[in-house]
Amino acid sequence: MTTSELLSAIDGVGTDRRRGGFSRHAFDPAEMELREWFAEQAEARDLRVTTDRNANLWAWWGEPGDDAVVTGSHLDSVPGGGAFDGPLGVVSSLAAVDSLRASGFVPRRPLAVVVFAEEEGGRFGVPCLGSRLLAGTIDPDKARGLRDPDGVSFADAMRSAGMRADRVGRDEEALRRIGQFVELHVEQGRGLVDLERPVAVASSILAHGRWRFRFSGQGNHAGATLITDRRDPMLPASRLVLAARRAAAGVEGARATVGRLVPNPGGTNVIPSTVDLWLDARSPTDAATRSVVDELTERAREFAAEEGCEVVVTEESYGDTVHFQPALRDELSGLLEDAPLLPTGAGHDAGILAAEVPTAMLFVRNPTGVSHAPEEHAEFADCEAGAQALARVLEHLAR
Ligand code: GLV
Ligand code: MN
Ligand code: MN
Ligand code: MN
Repeated sequence: MTTSELLSAIDGVGTDRRRGGFSRHAFDPAEMELREWFAEQAEARDLRVTTDRNANLWAWWGEPGDDAVVTGSHLDSVPGGGAFDGPLGVVSSLAAVDSLRASGFVPRRPLAVVVFAEEEGGRFGVPCLGSRLLAGTIDPDKARGLRDPDGVSFADAMRSAGMRADRVGRDEEALRRIGQFVELHVEQGRGLVDLERPVAVASSILAHGRWRFRFSGQGNHAGATLITDRRDPMLPASRLVLAARRAAAGVEGARATVGRLVPNPGGTNVIPSTVDLWLDARSPTDAATRSVVDELTERAREFAAEEGCEVVVTEESYGDTVHFQPALRDELSGLLEDAPLLPTGAGHDAGILAAEVPTAMLFVRNPTGVSHAPEEHAEFADCEAGAQALARVLEHLAR
């Protein structure tokens, strides 16, 4: 099947009528439907489907075994996300298997398609949770205890989805099985548009993380409380949003975003008692990213003190800069008619696995350059070019 046929098959799943786009979060009905759909598609291709200890789905061409060529991506989304971030890598993997089969190719090494759980961290807050657990870069107890906005823990959500939560954590068997990992992804910028090319090979990922700033003040009445009597945590939170823009603008290549801010209790006529604000900070180096966050932590303390409030800062996730393996990167670029090398500001499961196994990524042109929004796009012809490029890569590695 083509990538477009496969993408249209899941088009109605998790449509978010309120936000626009799609909301598909780990173990929610939409993501469970997509997992089921993937398993059916894999079984229809005689691939053997398994779920690992960390809720990641695998589909094996031939016997599962060590040193496999592995491709895949994720099926969850950000709130109100686009149709391609994640699913394009999954459907391209299936399309590549179809095309290799049709050509009569028989892999000499085991080959697998993987779907990683909770890549966006859209439900439990930590991105790439399935691959982090597999690689052991998050403490299993911490992961089990992560809570979604309704207070449901990751462990309980796993159990509700029919999986055990007591065995999550570094999975040596799964890691041994990954000889090389290649993730195809829609580009989340305009690099390929500017280069007028359909497909690129990834060079690096920014150092990035997420920090929660919890400002506490005194909840009170919006009409009865004099302005001079207030300890309103929304004040330091708002000032921090502006400071984040300034701090990032002052550091080469840095980005700082506040995409989520939750006042508690959240009433129009209520001065909040607390405000939670999440900072997403990224830059080309660990040191620069840390310097932005340190600066903002200091500013947050000042702003809080000036309003008679308090602030507690918690690092929720972090990953250092990733440089994909030069040998594999250059080999794949050469194989694909000197596909250009592009860095990315987005995080990926491939970035987590790169610390463990030779890992590469392919990007497919996105004419809007927009991602994490409904306007994210990839043309049919480019999706096909991406799937063909992936098929060539898998054939090359598994022969
Ligand atoms: C995930 O796509 C991220 O980069 O935040
Ligand atoms: Mn994403
Ligand atoms: Mn993604
Ligand atoms: Mn991502």
